[in-house]
Amino acid sequence: MIMKIPQGNTVIFNWHVIFLSFFLFACESGPPPEMTAPGALIYYGFVNQDAQCSRCHGDDGQGGMFGPQIRDAVAKRGITRVRDIIANGKGEGDKRMPDFAEELTPAQIEQVIHFLQTWNISASLDSTALKAAH
Ligand code: HEC
Repeated sequence: MIMKIPQGNTVIFNWHVIFLSFFLFACESGPPPEMTAPGALIYYGFVNQDAQCSRCHGDDGQGGMFGPQIRDAVAKRGITRVRDIIANGKGEGDKRMPDFAEELTPAQIEQVIHFLQTWNISASLDSTALKAAH
């Protein structure tokens, strides 16, 4: 009889853990409330999980294990080339950028390009500030 009480407690405790995990999962699956730009929601994978750019290019476009830095990609390559890279991919084999023409609509590709351009803007602001400081 005495042995059954802790066993019962263990079962109840486990159900709590399971319930809590579902709750935490539900919280983590949505975007933070301040993230409203459509392009940012795409970049971080909240619109289509398969097209999560941050998975490879990092949270700030700084690059990661699977993708290069892309903070200045639009300035460097031009908007037409970047549009083509997102829709049709780039490179070969393991180091290839996947194509996203099936995961993202043309309008969504424009939105994510617009988000990439906000980095260009802040980059040019930074260098203006740097020049002003010298
Ligand atoms: C599975 C990993 C992966 C994902 C997801 C991914 N990329 Fe890439 N991306 C790459 C790799 C790898 C390259 C480099 C390809 C090369 O140069 O051969 C690249 C290159 C690029 C470039 C060109 C950089 C340059 O200057 O040449 C841009 C722009 C870009 N990605 C944007 C995006 C956007 C926007 C998304 C989300 C819609 C995205 N990527 C999702 C892996 C990824």
